[in-house]
Amino acid sequence: MIKHGIGIFDSGLGGLTVMKAIKEALPCENIIYFGDTARVPYGNKSPETIKRFAKEMTDFLCSKNIKILVVACNTASAFALEYLKTILDIPVVGVIEPGSKSALEVTKTKKIGVIGTKGTINSGVYENILSRLDSTVEVQVKACPLFVPLVEEGWVENKITEDIAKQYLADLTGIDTLILGCTHYPILKKVIENILGDSVIIVDSAIETAQVVRNTIKLNAMEQKACQGQSEFFVSDDPGKFREVSRKFLDEDICQEMLLSKVILMP
Ligand code: DGL
Repeated sequence: MIKHGIGIFDSGLGGLTVMKAIKEALPCENIIYFGDTARVPYGNKSPETIKRFAKEMTDFLCSKNIKILVVACNTASAFALEYLKTILDIPVVGVIEPGSKSALEVTKTKKIGVIGTKGTINSGVYENILSRLDSTVEVQVKACPLFVPLVEEGWVENKITEDIAKQYLADLTGIDTLILGCTHYPILKKVIENILGDSVIIVDSAIETAQVVRNTIKLNAMEQKACQGQSEFFVSDDPGKFREVSRKFLDEDICQEMLLSKVILMP
């Protein structure tokens, strides 16, 4: 069993985009990933339900002796991050603040767009964090609920996906920076880039989150001494499907060696 790893949870597969960035930034670290594939999506569930799910995912990861928790899911970060910080005695990192900071570093016009699930967008979390970090920033938000099922279906370079993306993104006007405020959206980055053109910088919070995890581990002197970290995966539904779809999110070699188990959770 992997001990003293980085615990990462997401509502399903999407958090693997965050895990990939963390693995690249911290190749020596052990990682334990838990995807709540039985209860995904979180994006349209109530804050109370998401908080309960987040607590259960966290309890499971803590039983594996993790040294730091990464809430890779934007929706869970929006509704449960502060709560988890109050109940845990290990560092807890979410994806919203790192993505917001990164957007503020690159924007020139201070007009920032954010796309995410209905839950994340309706929570107002991005507007709150961005305006707390810089009160002069103008934020435009747009929920894109069809993006998650399109990615899960593997419909990425697809005319229907392009048309849907065009319709969603048309509501964001005059922005020079766009935050991908959902784990699945980095998979659609090329489609989004093609629609928005060169004048808009796309911010993928996974990369920035990985830097925050690296800094936090260093600051707390929690570095792993081994030269090659190991990864272990847990899911709450069919591991076979997870293995198959994870190829879209991760490198081939991680998929080959994937140590994967199923955990039963109540609905
Ligand atoms: N992981 C979710 C997020 O980043 C997207 C998928 C879902 O709706 O559960 O918000």
